[in-house]
Amino acid sequence: MRVDYEDLNKTLDALTEGETDEIALMATLACEIHHSDARFDWTGFYRVTEPEILKIGPYQGGHGCLKIPFSRGVCGAAARIGETQLVADVEAFPGHIACSTSTRSELVVPVCNGAGAVIGVFDIDSNQPEAFTQEDADQMERLLTRIFARL
Ligand code: SME
Repeated sequence: MRVDYEDLNKTLDALTEGETDEIALMATLACEIHHSDARFDWTGFYRVTEPEILKIGPYQGGHGCLKIPFSRGVCGAAARIGETQLVADVEAFPGHIACSTSTRSELVVPVCNGAGAVIGVFDIDSNQPEAFTQEDADQMERLLTRIFARL
């Protein structure tokens, strides 16, 4: 099963209309996106809760690491640099954090509020190598920008 981005966007708009609570939005997105595509084995958010620190947020899948410094892993890089990280092979990524040994590839997108500040990252992990495409990255960026601009 592959995600239909048009459907996903429509569903998320309908489900989150008028909602401005960060956790409610993150929980709803993690759930809907996780179940939209068989490539997605871990889907969720890390939130910036103190300077240079990411703390686990709403997610679907096995348990994630609770705390990730900006200096570490794919999530840390996305938060630090403020750019999407499309990682075809996690073993080739310096400092990758293996919360799950089955993860082979990842897509991590910074999440910004309406003022443009990075409030967290959205992480999708796959047990398949090279699971993610540039289209996935572009679509997720667009979707997250639209939804979190209301914060
Ligand atoms: N993939 C992340 C770690 C988070 S977990 O795998 C849920 C990283 O290396 O940043």
